[in-house]
This record gives sequence, structure tokens and C-alpha cells, in this order.
Amino acid sequence: MTNQNQIAVFGATGKVGKELIQQLSQAGITAIAVTRDKDKAKALPYIQWMEADMNDINSLEKVIEQCDMIFLASNVNQNFTNEQNNVIKVAVKNAVKHIVKLSSPGADKNSENFIARPNGEVEEYLKTSGVNYTILQPNTFMQNWLDYFAETIQKERKIYEATGEGKKPFLDTRDIAACAITVLTNSENHINKTYLLTGGESVSYGQVAQAISSAIKEPVTYISMTSEQAKTRMKSFGMPDMMINTFIAIAEGQRNGKADFVNKQVEELLNRKPIDIYKFAEDYVQYFK
Ligand SMILES: NC(=O)c1ccc[n+]([C@@H]2O[C@H](COP(=O)([O-])OP(=O)(O)OC[C@H]3O[C@@H](n4cnc5c(N)ncnc54)[C@H](OP(=O)(O)O)[C@@H]3O)[C@@H](O)[C@H]2O)c1
Repeated sequence: MTNQNQIAVFGATGKVGKELIQQLSQAGITAIAVTRDKDKAKALPYIQWMEADMNDINSLEKVIEQCDMIFLASNVNQNFTNEQNNVIKVAVKNAVKHIVKLSSPGADKNSENFIARPNGEVEEYLKTSGVNYTILQPNTFMQNWLDYFAETIQKERKIYEATGEGKKPFLDTRDIAACAITVLTNSENHINKTYLLTGGESVSYGQVAQAISSAIKEPVTYISMTSEQAKTRMKSFGMPDMMINTFIAIAEGQRNGKADFVNKQVEELLNRKPIDIYKFAEDYVQYFK
């Protein structure tokens, strides 16, 4: 399959972007994968790597003048809003047809949450930019566990979280990438829409521990911490207070049942069920052994 609209993927080395370029390549869809450091590039058929920095307008011009569609993702940092808005600005100047922005649930420029606020600021700028857009607001990624738990599971067979028995519909980043492809390849059906994406089932960390236990064939225990214990733990990793407060609020939301909300959006975009925690644990088993 070939594609008439050239797609540029910003965040192509990130959790969602790397799955997106993999799936675009497998589908035979040409795309430009953007990184600040070409040493991180993974050669894939149909994928051309280019270096650009969202802080550097000239480097953005060189990528964006070659594309019609943009997938926009980057990690939240102090410059996030300016960086992503630079991409939107250059896209408008170059008459890009459509931007798919990876955002977060509850994105709101007035939020105190350090993830929701900058995503909300960019959403607002994008909505008023005049370019066609689709906003994806995915729930928390299963792939975060590869950073957060893999080590304690390997060393202690334990997961530490402060969410009690509270549940959340975690999502596999491969499904988020697949939703992005649906939108990028049928953009006329998704103009100026915002999709809240959830996994197929809300699960507790006790259930996540069970899924990983069954994949590695050894018991894994979920240690349910209090918020105070979680704060002390995060401080010991040197995390700034602003981040700790947001993570504690997110954990408390899950513990109190506020995150326990499932919709059918992913299934509607993909015509199949979302990936569940058992498949995730099997596919990534080597990270937990
Ligand atoms: N993690 C979650 O559970 C979760 C849940 C919901 C929403 N989200 C949202 O997902 C987004 C992050 O996506 P992700 O997790 O896929 O990304 P990620 O894994 O954090 O990777 C960040 C990507 O952004 C690129 N990047 C960062 N700064 C850049 C710059 N100045 N210029 C060009 N590229 C830059 C990096 O590229 P190089 O380093 O290669 O240059 C990298 O590919 C955020 O908006 C976040 O709010 C995350």
C-alpha cells in the first residue's frame, strides 16, 4: 500500500511514535520519522529519518515543507507548549492538511497537573490554528511499566503503587499507534475530533501483578503503599515536588475509583478489541524475568 499524503512523525523514537513508524512501515506507508539525534534512528522500509528540534524553526521547516500530515508527540517538559506550538505554526505556514496530536485525558490549560496543563495549552492553540486536527487522549500506557516496574519485578518480584484496589483501563501503545494510523489514513472522517481512548477493561495493580505472574510463571506481589509512602519513595529517586504531587493525585484518583471508566473508542477505530494485560505481559515477558 502506498500513501499520497506524506506523513511526518514527531516523537518517532518515543513510546507511541516508535510503534507508529513500525506499523506504517509494515503497511508500506511512506513516512518521515523525526528525531533530534539520528543515532537513535532504526532503519525500516518506507521510513526516512530526519533530524529536527521543535525548538529550531529552521529544522522544522525542512521536515514540514515535505509533508501533508503530522503526528505530533513529545515528552512533557518545561518547553513543551512552545515546542509543540512551533510545529503547529510551521504546519500552518506550509498548508499541512491534518495534525494528529497525542494529548492526555483531562487536558486543560487551567489544570494544576503538570501533564494535563501543557497538553491543554497546545490543544487550545491547535484548535484555533485553522489546520484540521484530531486529538488522541489515551489513558495511561501499559508500556510505562517497563520503566516503572521491570526492575523491582526482576529483583524482588514486587510492584509498588499507591492505588489500593482502584482500577484503570490501561492502554497498550501499539493500540494507540494503530488508532493514529486509522486517523492519518482516513483523516476526512476524523476532522476536528477529540477521542478519549481507554483500554478494554479497567484493572487494578493486583490484576497486573497476576498477569505478569502468569507470563513469567512465578508469583509477583502488588505492594499497596499509602500516599505518604509513595511520596517518600519518589523523593528518594530525586523527583521534583511538582511531579510527585501530580503522580500522587493520579494515584489517588485511581484508588478512589475516578479512573474506572471504559469506552469503546479504540474498538470503534480498530474494529477489534484493545490489547489486554495478559497479552501485554506475554509479549514483554523478557522485561520481567
Ligand atoms: N506515558 C503515559 O502513560 C501517557 C498517557 C497519556 C498521554 N501521554 C502523552 O504522550 C505524550 C508523550 O508521548 P510518548 O510517551 O510516546 O513520548 P516519549 O516516549 O516521552 O518520547 C518523547 C519523544 O519526543 C521527542 N522529542 C522530545 N523533545 C523534542 C524536541 N525538542 N524536538 C523534537 N523531538 C522531541 C523525542 O525524540 P528524540 O529524543 O529522538 O529527539 C521522543 O521521540 C505526552 O504528551 C504525554 O502527555 C502519555
